Amino acid sequence: MPDAIPGKSAKIIAVANQKGGVGKTTTTINLGAALAEAGQKVLLIDLDPQGNASTGLGVSPYARQVTTYDFILGDALPDQAIQATTVKNLSIIPATTDLSSADIELISNEKRSFLLFDALRQLPMDAMGFDFVLIDCPPSLNILTVNAMVAAHSVIVPLQSEFFALEGLSQLMLTIRDVRQSANKALRIEGVVLTMYDRRNNLSQQVEADARENLGGLVFETVIPRNVRLSEAPSFAMPALSYDSQSAGSQAYRELAAEVLSQAKSQLRKVS
Ligand SMILES: Nc1ncnc2c1ncn2[C@@H]1O[C@H](COP(=O)(O)OP(=O)(O)OP(=O)(O)O)[C@@H](O)[C@H]1O
Ligand SMILES: [Mg+2]
Repeated sequence: MPDAIPGKSAKIIAVANQKGGVGKTTTTINLGAALAEAGQKVLLIDLDPQGNASTGLGVSPYARQVTTYDFILGDALPDQAIQATTVKNLSIIPATTDLSSADIELISNEKRSFLLFDALRQLPMDAMGFDFVLIDCPPSLNILTVNAMVAAHSVIVPLQSEFFALEGLSQLMLTIRDVRQSANKALRIEGVVLTMYDRRNNLSQQVEADARENLGGLVFETVIPRNVRLSEAPSFAMPALSYDSQSAGSQAYRELAAEVLSQAKSQLRKVS
């Protein structure tokens, strides 16, 4: 039997870093797939106009009639927007470039930071029984990322194991602090995950040491190795866990999922 998390409300996690190409989408897809494999019912929300998570999970452009854009504007109900994927227990709301106009269109909307929050709390969502909602954010601290942070319980920050990795992190932390002060007091940092880690490379080790020294317990034990299977899988329209289940990248995302699950359980214990 899957070790399901009790309670009908989903745990909502934003995967964010304004730096481009650090592994947000790879983490969202494969953490989602690993949680789904562990028996959790997972919804992935593609909140990036690039639509990489949608493409990586095999949602063709023709199958994107109803998108995150419609969902956050209240033009689509959850059951109209949510699609199944080829992975059992893993669903998605796909994105298209439409979403890039959200920034401009939403300027005059008073509730502009709360659109995803409101959309996710619509009644039928609970009935759908998701355990986790993972939000793939764009590489920016724009209104879309703020929507994700307002709607989420926590944030996962992928950190590429490269020089300059920690730069820009203070800006991200400031945004999280602003969101806490203005709209979402309870927003937590679920953890920082080192991605594209190369054990033979001194630089990777240095970045890890710096991150652990500066961020302490916020850094996940699991590090995601640089692994070619992780970069190949999206072109086969599937998570690495389906493409090459035993690859080092897939195994690492299973370990990350185990950490996320164990944190979710200990948080539940604290609440009850
Ligand atoms: N652990 C890894 N090993 C090898 N390649 C990886 C790994 N993680 C990500 N990649 C590759 O690095 C590139 C950037 O990854 P990804 O798209 O996940 O980053 P991102 O932060 O979502 O980018 P963006 O900011 O553009 O949304 C992709 O080509 C991806 O396949
Ligand atoms: Mg991305």
